[in-house]
Amino acid sequence: MITKNTIDKVFETARVEEVIGDFVQLKKSGSNLKGLSPFTEERTPSFMVSPVKQIWKDFSSGKGGNVIAFLMEHEHFTYPEAIKYLAKRYGIEIEETEQSDEQKEQANERESMYLVSEYANKFFQRTMHESNEGKAIGLSYFKERGFTQETIKKFDLGYSPDEWEAFTKQALADGYKLDYLEKTGLSIVKDQKKFDRFKGRVMFPIHSMSGRVLGFGGRILSNTKKAAKYLNSPESDIYHKSKVLYGIYYAKQAIAKEDNCYLVEGYTDVIQFHQSGIENTVSSSGTALTPDQIRLINRLTKNITVLFDGDAAGTRASMRGIDLILEQGMNVKVCPFPEGEDPDSFARSNSEDELREYLQENSYDFINYKASLLMEESKNDPVKKATLIRDMVNSISKIPDNIQREVYLQECSRIMDISEEVLYASLAQIQNKSQKTSPEPRKKNMEVVKENNSPKTKVDQLYELERKIISLLVLYGREEGEFHDVLLKQDEHGEMVYESEVQHSKVFEKIFLDLQEDEIEFTNDDFQKLFLLLIEKLNSEDDFGVDKIINELEKSQAVKLTDILMEEEQYELHDWDRHDIPVKSKEQGITQYVSQTILSLRRFLVGQKINDLLEELKEIEDETDRTEKIQEIMSYTSLSTILSDRLGRVM
Ligand code: CTP
Ligand code: MN
Repeated sequence: MITKNTIDKVFETARVEEVIGDFVQLKKSGSNLKGLSPFTEERTPSFMVSPVKQIWKDFSSGKGGNVIAFLMEHEHFTYPEAIKYLAKRYGIEIEETEQSDEQKEQANERESMYLVSEYANKFFQRTMHESNEGKAIGLSYFKERGFTQETIKKFDLGYSPDEWEAFTKQALADGYKLDYLEKTGLSIVKDQKKFDRFKGRVMFPIHSMSGRVLGFGGRILSNTKKAAKYLNSPESDIYHKSKVLYGIYYAKQAIAKEDNCYLVEGYTDVIQFHQSGIENTVSSSGTALTPDQIRLINRLTKNITVLFDGDAAGTRASMRGIDLILEQGMNVKVCPFPEGEDPDSFARSNSEDELREYLQENSYDFINYKASLLMEESKNDPVKKATLIRDMVNSISKIPDNIQREVYLQECSRIMDISEEVLYASLAQIQNKSQKTSPEPRKKNMEVVKENNSPKTKVDQLYELERKIISLLVLYGREEGEFHDVLLKQDEHGEMVYESEVQHSKVFEKIFLDLQEDEIEFTNDDFQKLFLLLIEKLNSEDDFGVDKIINELEKSQAVKLTDILMEEEQYELHDWDRHDIPVKSKEQGITQYVSQTILSLRRFLVGQKINDLLEELKEIEDETDRTEKIQEIMSYTSLSTILSDRLGRVM
């Protein structure tokens, strides 16, 4: 684990504008910096960086946060990866907390395996570009395949000499331990003898999401030998086949930007596609797609397009894996290639525009495609048709979203010419079965999601009020002032009269006490968590920077807070100043605004309560119960009037 000390140092040193400046061209705009959103294709800049607040906000994608959030979004780093990146950029030494001896050994071992893999990566490239054998055999093979020099460099392609232990010998001579050469599978040790696993092959290094070399694929060059065409590194502590996608390091940004991922079969398809300008392409390298690989893509986009060769066997095989993708709630399209072509050959023999057009026009929604295909196959065979319908409904049953599932069912009913009822019955059957067998029964599968009955505007109003309270805490929490309020009191004659009252306190205390008095909690989870955290910070620490708080938040909360901070300029209070609305001083403006917001929230909640009670009243038949309910409603109504009145007076 990285020590807190190191993390603090990183945060003290890193400047959001410098770090982002490495990726996005920024121009000064007032006190902020502005640039083109790196997350969308846009022509007018709506990406803002605030050097003062040390945060950024992309108004076109809605993303935002601090410097770490930027690296996590843009480079798809994990938190520790982002910290390490910044430490490196600013020359900060990374301290790690003491690990147990066992942990240390494991970490050291993995680190050594990474180092050995990186060394091999360099060795294979050097061999290909510098040795005569490498140039004559390896490099010329790739050139013949149509890979440009630029592509060959980009993908770190290499060549392993056609000798039994050329690589192993050199690695040992350069101080690498045989143990790690063996554990990474680069060398094979047998009866005291050592061999190079990839002897005489061209090399495809496999990178992690953050660009570390985890393993290799090696392709044989002679087609006379009986040896396998492709040989891959074995599973190891650093290379888990099922968790890696070939090309993900080079594709991640394009996938996020295009909001779609093309999935192809192997190394050569990925590389050829990238060379053709379709950079949102990855492959699971020869094996079937695994849930972990799908999750990797799911972090970047909800949309995936599976490309497959134009033969029947290829189609069937690709179809089977796709249910797994549906299960993770992703939208799946398929794109079959013409008979005898694979993505690699097609990309090679067509221009970029032709390729794009082909992908555009031949990508079909998976469910619809499968339904049409099955229809075709079972045209005149009712028995076969019954089996295929079940197959189809089975795929649909994997979709987690209720509404989407229903839409597909209707679509299928149309394509396959079966009544919806039959399909629903079949779906219910499948779901019942899976409910009995799965340990965690899914809940209410067939239930159609009910529309929320409260009108949308009301929900938004509550959201806005809650948001306003949070922004008041963030922007003015520590400020002090006089809060003028009017309270309803009994005078000496027993009459109810308004009496004004002045209270001196800090903004956050006023908000906290007022809400507590009414036992008000925020309905929005993120706001509730932000509220508690802000109150705690305001109450305890003398100087707390909002940018520090952002680090402690979950992503959705951090985004909400960033929004608030970035919108300060548009804040209503400033509008008041601008529009010459008589506000005696900034301080008085704030206290007024605080009181007004709290009262508005209370009045809104009281109004909501009244509506609920009126609904309840409709169901009550018993006369005494009705009277009681009506009385309750009356008392809330008079509270609402009082609140409106007070609201009128503070304004
Ligand atoms: N593949 C693999 N293992 C194999 C065969 C294929 O991993 N035994 C993967 C490779 O990633 C390869 C992709 O599937 O890039 C496509 O297979 P294929 O077309 O047979 O490989 P190519 O190298 O393109 O061979 P050829 O030049 O004969 O088309
Ligand atoms: Mn091929």
